[in-house]
Amino acid sequence: MSSRIAEVRGALALDSRGSPTVKARVVTEGGAVGTAIAPSGASKSVKEAVELRDGGTRWAGRGVGIAIANINEVIAPRLKGIDAREQRFIDRAMIALDGTPDKSRLGGNAIVAVSLAVAKAAAAQLNVPLYSYLGGVRSRVLPTPFMNVINGGAHAGNELSFQEFMIVPVGADAFSEALRIAVEVYYVLKAYLKEKYGKGAVNVGDEGGFAPPMRRNEEALEALMQSIKRAGYSESHVLLGIDAAASQFYSNGSYLVDGRELSAGELRDLYLEVLSRYPIVYLEDPYEEGDFASFAELTSRVKRALIVGDDLYSTNLKYLRRGLEVRATNAALLKVNQAGTLSESIDFYELARGSGLRVVVSHRSGDSEDSFIADLAVALGSPIKTGAPARGERTAKYNRLLEIEEELGGTAEYLGSNFV
Ligand code: PGA
Ligand code: ZN
Repeated sequence: MSSRIAEVRGALALDSRGSPTVKARVVTEGGAVGTAIAPSGASKSVKEAVELRDGGTRWAGRGVGIAIANINEVIAPRLKGIDAREQRFIDRAMIALDGTPDKSRLGGNAIVAVSLAVAKAAAAQLNVPLYSYLGGVRSRVLPTPFMNVINGGAHAGNELSFQEFMIVPVGADAFSEALRIAVEVYYVLKAYLKEKYGKGAVNVGDEGGFAPPMRRNEEALEALMQSIKRAGYSESHVLLGIDAAASQFYSNGSYLVDGRELSAGELRDLYLEVLSRYPIVYLEDPYEEGDFASFAELTSRVKRALIVGDDLYSTNLKYLRRGLEVRATNAALLKVNQAGTLSESIDFYELARGSGLRVVVSHRSGDSEDSFIADLAVALGSPIKTGAPARGERTAKYNRLLEIEEELGGTAEYLGSNFV
C-alpha cells in the first residue's frame, strides 16, 4: 500500500482554554489517516515559532482561519504525492514554503499540526504504534512525569509568582504505579487545600493543578510536602519540581517574588535556599529568558537538580547553542510547537542530549486531546511534563502512556529517578 500523501486538510478545533487552534488531517494513498492538533502556550517566549492569529473581532481576534487556509491552499498542494515517511523532507519543504525564520507567514500552528499529522499517518500506514515509528526498538522506557499540581503565574488567578509546583513520583517500578502514587498525593493535596484555604482553593488552573489563594511560593512547597507525607510517602517516593517561568515576573531589571523586588543575585540566593530546604530535583526558567549568565551561575552551583531551559531555548537550536557555550543549564524542555516541526524538535533533542543535557518533553498550557507527546516521550526515553492528573487534555497523555505500558507488557521499563 502506498504511503504517499493523498490529502492534507486543515480544520478548526478548540484548545483547552476555548481558543481556536489548528487541526491537520493527512491521508495517504493507502488510506491511512493521521490527525494532529496544535497546542498553544500562555507564558510564551518571544523566541517561539509564531502562532498565526487572524485578529479582528471574531473569536476575539484569536481565529486561525488564515493558518487553516495556508494548509489547504499552500501546504497541501506542495505535499501531495510525497511519501509520508519522508518526514525530514516534508518539514523542510514547509520551512522553505514559509520562508521566514519564525514561521510567521504560514503560521507555526499550521506547520506543526501538519508535521505531526504526517508522522501519525506514516505510522498508521506502516501499522506500527506511533512511539515505535518515532523511536524504533529502543522505545520501551516510560517517562517520569513532572506533574504540575499547584498552578500560579500566568496559569492561575492567584498571587503565586512561580507558575508551576510539581510532584515527581520516582519511587515506583512501573509507570502505572508512579501514576497511582502521584494521584494519591493529588487527592490528599485537594483535601489539605480545602481544609486550610476553603473550598475555593481547589478550583483548578490551566494545567489541572489547584490554584489556591496563596501569596508566597513556600506555602505551595509546604502544601506539597505535607500532602506527600499524609499520603504515606516520603522523599524516596516523591520529589518536587518548580517552573518559575521567571520572564513573567521580571521587569526593568528586577523580579517581583512574594511581593518583593529582587535582583538576579538575590533571586539566586532564594533558589539556593529553597533547594537546600526541599527535595527539589527540577527547576525550570529560574530567570528571564535573556539572562544566560544567571542561568549558568546557578547551574554551576546546583548539583542534584535539573536546571531547565524552557523560554530560555524555546526548542530552538540557535538559543540552545548559545546556552551550551556558557553551560547555561543541564536540561532543556522540548515543545514541538515552539520548534514548529517534528524534525526540528528531534534535532533539538539530539544536540541537547548529545551535549549531556537531559531533555524533558512537554505539553502547553493550552492543549488538546492529542496525545502525540506521550508517544514522543517514550520514543526519546525522556521524562514528560504534562500537567496534573485532571482535565481531559492532560489525562489524554497519561491515559496514552498507560496504554503504551500495557502494550509493551513485560518489556516496559520505568525511567523513575534516572533522569539526572
Ligand atoms: P505555556 O507554559 O504553555 O503557557 O508556555 C508551560 C511552561 O511554561 O512550561
Ligand atoms: Zn516553562
